[in-house]
Order: sequence, then structure tokens, then C-alpha cells
Amino acid sequence: MISIRLNMKQIIVAIDGYSSCGKSTIAKQLAQYAGYRYIDTGAMYRAVALQAIRNQVSPSGNAADIEAILGFTRIDFAIQPDGTQHVTLNGEDVEKQIRTLEVGNAASQIAVVPEVRRFLVAQQQKMGEQGGIVMDGRDIGTVVFPNAELKLFLTASPEVRAERRFKELQEKGGQPVMADVLADVNDRDYRDTHRAESPLKQADDAIVVDNSNMTREEQMEHIYRIFDNACK
Ligand code: DC
Repeated sequence: MISIRLNMKQIIVAIDGYSSCGKSTIAKQLAQYAGYRYIDTGAMYRAVALQAIRNQVSPSGNAADIEAILGFTRIDFAIQPDGTQHVTLNGEDVEKQIRTLEVGNAASQIAVVPEVRRFLVAQQQKMGEQGGIVMDGRDIGTVVFPNAELKLFLTASPEVRAERRFKELQEKGGQPVMADVLADVNDRDYRDTHRAESPLKQADDAIVVDNSNMTREEQMEHIYRIFDNACK
């Protein structure tokens, strides 16, 4: 399969969608299937948020203060022996540190700052210059790569996503309340789709994948078929 793929064109796959849709799992699996590089743009927003926290700059504060830290912020990805990628901040592997609730919340605040978006979008565009990439986020098909050969927009009903999130929290040993989890999903959807700068929006030419009623295997088979067609 790899030798066949070597002769295929190396396209850009842009994956956007709502939170708790399984975007990163899907993007990672598709990148593996395609032999492409995977870029988790959410990790980049999280790394900038971590940098702000470390420098005592409020992620919801003054844009000029936030802009100032970008001057000494270098974000990259380091490939691990198992093929996965860890985000680095000025050369330090911060993959673990960025996955906390605190950094996640700070990332959602800092992601509304236009200077931060410009800073990261420029890097993301450079990473995808050569094609052969799967990138996931909220604005990949609309802002980062409006000319991507394949755009997927993932969605599932808020109830299904809340159910998945509820199970995840339970598995982590928490005691979530379903009504709170659903309210949180709806709040994040609202924030993602209503912010002034690069709101989450389905690109006109995106293929919508609603995975509410699909098993993981059905969903991946469906996406692999879409990808194979896009490469022809
Ligand atoms: O996907 P995630 O939860 O790791 O993303 C962290 C935050 O960054 C999230 O609040 C949305 C924001 N984000 C964004 O605004 N644009 C992107 N391309 C990716 C993430």
C-alpha cells in the first residue's frame, strides 16, 4: 500500500469540527493510514497559553502583553520513537503540561487574540507547504488552508458528545453530572462558533461527517474512502 501511495499526490487534509467529536483521534489515524504528518493545532494554542501562564501574563488580559511574549515563544513538534508527536515550547517537551484543564481554559481565552492567531496560522501554513499533512483544529479549512484538497467537518449531536465526554470523565475517576457535561458542551459550541476572530465554521466545500450513529470502525472506513477518492 505504501508503494502505491508514494506515487499518489501528497494532499493537505483539513479537519475541523466541534469539541468532543473525536477530531484528534480521527486525524491521527488518518495520518497513519496515509503516511502523512499530523499536526494538532490545538496543542499549539495550548503551548502559547502555557507560555503566558509561566510569564504571569493573563490569557484573557491585555493583547499587547500577550503579543510581547510571542517574541520569545518558539513552538514546534518533536517526533517520538513510536511515531507520535509532542509539542515543544522553546525546545522543551510540554506535551504533558498542556493537557491540564487550566491550560485548556487558558488556550480557549488566548485563542481569541488576533496576534496569537496570526502568529500560529503563519507557522501552520509553513508546516503544510509541501502537502502530505493532516491538520486538525477549528479554522483549518476556512483560514489556514482555504485551498486544501480535502476538508472534513466533523460533527455529532450535543447529546452524543456529552455522553462520550461523560464516559471519559468517569473513566478518569471523576463523578460527572450529565446535565453539567451537556451544558459545558453547549457552552463550548457557542464560544467556538461566536467568537469574532476565526470562529468555527464549516467551509462551503467541506465534507460533513456526522458520527453520532457510527462506530469508530465505520467512521474510519468512511473517512478512508473519502481520502482515497480525494487523492485520485
Ligand atoms: O482542540 P483543543 O481543545 O486542544 O484546543 C484548545 C483551544 O484552542 C480550544 O479552546 C480551541 C482553540 N483552537 C482554536 O481556536 N483554533 C484551532 N485551530 C485549534 C484550537
